[in-house]
Amino acid sequence: MPSPTLPSKIAILLFPGFQLLDAAGPLDAFNLLSNQHTLTLYILAATLDPVSTQHWQLDEQGSNVAPSIVPTHTFADAPTDIDMLLLPGGMGARGPKGEENTGAVVQYLKTLDLSGAGSIKHVLTVCTGSEVLARTGLLDGRNATTNKRAFNDVKAKHPQVNWVAKARWVVDGNIWTSSGISAGMDLAFAWMSEVFGEEVAAYVADRSEYERNVESGNDRFAERWGAV
Ligand SMILES: *[C@@H]1O[C@H](CO)[C@@H](O)[C@H](O)[C@H]1NC(C)=O
Repeated sequence: MPSPTLPSKIAILLFPGFQLLDAAGPLDAFNLLSNQHTLTLYILAATLDPVSTQHWQLDEQGSNVAPSIVPTHTFADAPTDIDMLLLPGGMGARGPKGEENTGAVVQYLKTLDLSGAGSIKHVLTVCTGSEVLARTGLLDGRNATTNKRAFNDVKAKHPQVNWVAKARWVVDGNIWTSSGISAGMDLAFAWMSEVFGEEVAAYVADRSEYERNVESGNDRFAERWGAV
């Protein structure tokens, strides 16, 4: 059953080197959802400059296949009526400049009430977005998942979290975490189903011509990337 008060303000937090589909997959689903339900998206970042998906590995390769997204607000002047927070991951969150790239996001996250009791009712992370969230300590003692290629490293760095290896996504209370990149779309539709109702989620997925994975435990990538 849909919640009595449906979320209408969604915020995505960006940092340099986020993975495009981590952000774009769920956002496209919410974009289509917003044809039926009134939604507003806040795009938050450290500054109002476009946030690039370029990262260290692309630099090393001499590649540039890295579009940018333009923020609507900085963390410093972020709206306070956010209902749902979406946090992508990406190579920029890790590697040589990982801490530097995500420092402002982590600081901002620490200022928020993410317990579910405040304005923000749900937190959704995609891919290594869960590692960024883990840096705040919020995932300590909770169930979560992350990108399966990064799984063992993330688990070693944050042993207080109950990392679930074989999971397309994991729900622990109001914290929803997904596996790598495309798993964020299954997470987005699972969340949409829970909050707006399965009929709405199925309609939006069909409108996207997207084949959902609706089983949270169906995750062949755990074996593929040696997480189990
Ligand atoms: C966390 O996962 C364990 C299994 O590892 C399960 O028994 C428990 O119910 C889960 N907790 C929540 C809050 O989902």
